[in-house]
Amino acid sequence: AYVIAEPCIDVLDRACVEECPVDCIYEGDRALYIHPDECVDCGACEPVCPVDAIFYEDDVPPEWSAFIADNTHFFEKPLPGQTEAFGSPGGATKVGRLAVDTPLVARYPPPSA
Ligand code: F3S
Ligand code: F3S
Repeated sequence: AYVIAEPCIDVLDRACVEECPVDCIYEGDRALYIHPDECVDCGACEPVCPVDAIFYEDDVPPEWSAFIADNTHFFEKPLPGQTEAFGSPGGATKVGRLAVDTPLVARYPPPSA
């Protein structure tokens, strides 16, 4: 699957969302996350991100390798304040903004004013 890494945090450009044919890019609070099972590896999202946050899983730069498991974590483990994992909703549009992040993303310092 494709993965969204650190540069998306607090940018949330959302150009990627428009490109995805299977609507598998979900919006958290400070970043977006690609569903690893719903993504069909079409690659359409990757070139449109203005901050180059999106990579095929095998091409994620080493400093951001934790984001591979982190995109999965967003769906497969209960997030802070949640009792159940989101699982596989089968479409991000109907779910809308989830307003929660993985601990990895939530730990990033807020953008400086
Ligand atoms: Fe984030 Fe880039 Fe998409 S900033 S929301 S991954 S277009
Ligand atoms: Fe969608 Fe990008 Fe995967 S456009 S199908 S998330 S490669």
